[in-house]
Amino acid sequence: MPLFQTSPGMRDVLPPESTRRRRFFELFAEVVAAAGYGEVVTPLLEDYGVFARVGDATDLVQKEMYRFTDTGGRDVALRPEFTAAVCRAFAEHRPATPWKVWSGGPLLRYERPQRGRYRQFEQVNLEVLGSDDPMVDVEVIALGWRFFERLGLRQVTLLVNSLGTRDERAVYVEALRRYFTDNLDALSDQTVATLARNPLRVLDSQRPEDAALITDAPMIAESYGPATLAHFEAVQAGLELVGIPFTIAPRLVRGLDYYVSTTFEFAGGTLESAQNALGGGGRYDGLVEALGGPPTAGVGFALGVDRGLLACDDEEVFDAPATTVEVFVVDTTGGAAALAITEELRRAGVTADRAFDNRSMKSQMKAADRSGATTAIIVGPDELDAGEVLVRPLRADGEQIRVARAALVDHLTT
Ligand code: HAM
Repeated sequence: MPLFQTSPGMRDVLPPESTRRRRFFELFAEVVAAAGYGEVVTPLLEDYGVFARVGDATDLVQKEMYRFTDTGGRDVALRPEFTAAVCRAFAEHRPATPWKVWSGGPLLRYERPQRGRYRQFEQVNLEVLGSDDPMVDVEVIALGWRFFERLGLRQVTLLVNSLGTRDERAVYVEALRRYFTDNLDALSDQTVATLARNPLRVLDSQRPEDAALITDAPMIAESYGPATLAHFEAVQAGLELVGIPFTIAPRLVRGLDYYVSTTFEFAGGTLESAQNALGGGGRYDGLVEALGGPPTAGVGFALGVDRGLLACDDEEVFDAPATTVEVFVVDTTGGAAALAITEELRRAGVTADRAFDNRSMKSQMKAADRSGATTAIIVGPDELDAGEVLVRPLRADGEQIRVARAALVDHLTT
């Protein structure tokens, strides 16, 4: 028989890592719920057109989408991100604004797998729809920052930029196109191809031969009008007010086309630069409209769960919790006593595990030790006849005692 394995870019997550991952989601939910955000759950699959709105010039739409025709002939895609789906939900349900929502779960992008980059990965995601107040940008960024603090990460840095309005950005893109086209000889062949698709993406090139030209490229700030400038300054003042350190990154353009105005990225301090984007986001005023809804401002971010946990590994914080039970039942009389006792304990709220397969006393005691339980309940033939059990402390000093079977739950819970 063939030995099946996960497909490239897909992974299994086993305990205890899966418990840690769940806690990551729970902690995020706790942090953002405390700021008035509710969870929106959108489907894994949407009409392809929803995600096509992320932008024709993006890798995400051009190369990475899991797109197929379903049995009913619909052109559908597995979600590569949450933002477009959340905007589609907003346009469909028209909730009261500001609509403050978070989401979490798996996404799919057909990417080249490497450390921290998978084809199925997870994000926690936050969006606010219906307000263009720069204080919303600050709230959103601050929640990301405070979440990293709660994880225990100390080496995260925040990069912020503004891409201006759609018109200002278009002027800037043309300036970039002219600048790079005048200097084509100094660009690598791959970057020349990128230039033809989207001059902004040239700024993302990591190729050393492009570096000098990128350093001297025109700056987006030269294209800002007064409204963009005022918004960006208000965001910076807000971040300063709440004591969140940031660096202005004039070359930060992000990989998705819907961004306008504020954009930002959280970079990990310990990961290699190809994977150090722990998350990012920005404003996408206009995306709801592109999905058939009313003109609506929007801002949000997504954090990569996989990258976040790698950063936690590197900084040795947010450890995988040990899964333990309080009580382990050792039964050498056939197993029915262990069945009854674990049932009774679990109903009374005491966490309990047991051995199966009628193993020897020695093997069951080893399992009890591995379980992390603090107490073993032991039932042998003598105890069974006498209607008693032995209660043995496993982690602390103390005597083993004999307890009447009928009084066991009381003994353990009082
Ligand atoms: P994004 O930059 O495409 O933004 O993804 C956000 C984060 O998801 C990345 O910084 C990274 O940590 C993680 N990520 C992305 N692709 C992968 C992958 N293949 N494997 C592992 N992790 C990955 C967005 O998705 C926007 N929707 C964010 C946003 C929300 N903007 C506004 N609202």
